[in-house]
Amino acid sequence: MVERTLIVIKPDGVQRHLIGEIIGRFEKKGFKLVAAKFLQLSEKQAGQLYAVHREKAFFKGLIKFLSSAPVLLMVWEAEGVIDMTRKMMGATFGFYAELGTIRGDFSCSERCNLVHGSDSPESAQQEIKLFFTPSEIINYKLTDAHWLYGRAVSPKK
Ligand code: RTP
Ligand code: MG
Repeated sequence: MVERTLIVIKPDGVQRHLIGEIIGRFEKKGFKLVAAKFLQLSEKQAGQLYAVHREKAFFKGLIKFLSSAPVLLMVWEAEGVIDMTRKMMGATFGFYAELGTIRGDFSCSERCNLVHGSDSPESAQQEIKLFFTPSEIINYKLTDAHWLYGRAVSPKK
């Protein structure tokens, strides 16, 4: 099933000039970018994004960090995009993340791990709603979709 996920390049990713690197990985993998917004989150917005962690010891620090500088919010679309983006991001803490993943290649921190990605279809739906109205999410066709996803290609032609 075609899914959508919210990906956020966190303040450390923006400040460390890694926007292009991170977007490039998702783009080259073949996901479709359907929405994007560059803004500085309020503490309230950051708290809404990470509401599931409200009771955790790291919550306050996480909210301060996330609202400390601009972030790039994006919605990416593909079949299985949630699992694939999570794999490409790597384990939560940069120092545990495998090399070859975004966090494994560029982060050695707990909090400053460059990127957020929704972890289930339910959280994706909720998180996307926090930042994008339906009309801000663009429906369009990728002209190379049959090469990316291997569908509707006649074996004879
Ligand atoms: P994310 O939600 O950002 O995609 O990260 P995740 O699923 O891999 O990890 P999660 O458990 O949801 O944690 C959310 C973010 O909180 C920060 N964090 N700091 N012990 C700590 O200092 C600590 N633990 C988590 C990280 O920025 C993590 O991505
Ligand atoms: Mg999470």
